Amino acid sequence: MPVFDYMKQHPEDNECFLKMLKKHSKVVARQLLSVYDFSPFKHIVDVGGADGTLLIEILKSTPNVQGMVFDLPHVAEEAAKMIAENNLSERCKTAGGSFFDSLSVVGDCYILKHVLHDWTDEKCGEILRNVGKIMGPESKLLIMESILAPDDYDLQMIDFMIWIEADGKERSISDFETLLKSADFKISRLITIPPGKYTIIEAVLNK
Ligand SMILES: C[S@@+](CC[C@H](N)C(=O)[O-])C[C@H]1O[C@@H](n2cnc3c(N)ncnc32)[C@H](O)[C@@H]1O
Repeated sequence: MPVFDYMKQHPEDNECFLKMLKKHSKVVARQLLSVYDFSPFKHIVDVGGADGTLLIEILKSTPNVQGMVFDLPHVAEEAAKMIAENNLSERCKTAGGSFFDSLSVVGDCYILKHVLHDWTDEKCGEILRNVGKIMGPESKLLIMESILAPDDYDLQMIDFMIWIEADGKERSISDFETLLKSADFKISRLITIPPGKYTIIEAVLNK
């Protein structure tokens, strides 16, 4: 059974998964905010944003920005609770749906953090094209992932695990270039998130 279908059918395991993501995203958010300025944006959409932890931290540190967490309906419900607990319901909304269907969420910054590594190139192409369809020419896509290097045996181990677990894979920078090009994007910037485990691949539409 696909891993995210399993999570939907096993709420206790999903709760455990979301708790793990929350702890991870809290740490990564601090590191991310030390290198990336979100203040030029008006509306940030976190696609596959889980319980909203990352976006909540971004919004707390960037007061004039609005946000939206997009995830599967049962996960978006959890995000709505977290957003309310953080008194951000006025500035941050949620939407439940699938990124394999056409999206109707509008923003000038779209985040995909640790989403693409769950999927095959073909499925990633579908996600990227759906995001691309709703992006304006000035909008930015921020992909946050680890970048596979030939001597990174830890990530190669995760690559193997994620392939077994979800049919996904970790990718090298040239894999990302190829994937993005096939969905009509081009990389505009690469920013290493300290201490160096993750990278922001900033991309724009190739038009
Ligand atoms: C590995 S988690 C990453 C979550 C979050 N971005 C983070 O880094 O903590 C992948 C996320 O994609 C969501 N997801 C899986 N399939 C989805 C789909 N078809 N449409 C929307 N979201 C989906 C999951 O519910 C989960 O929140």
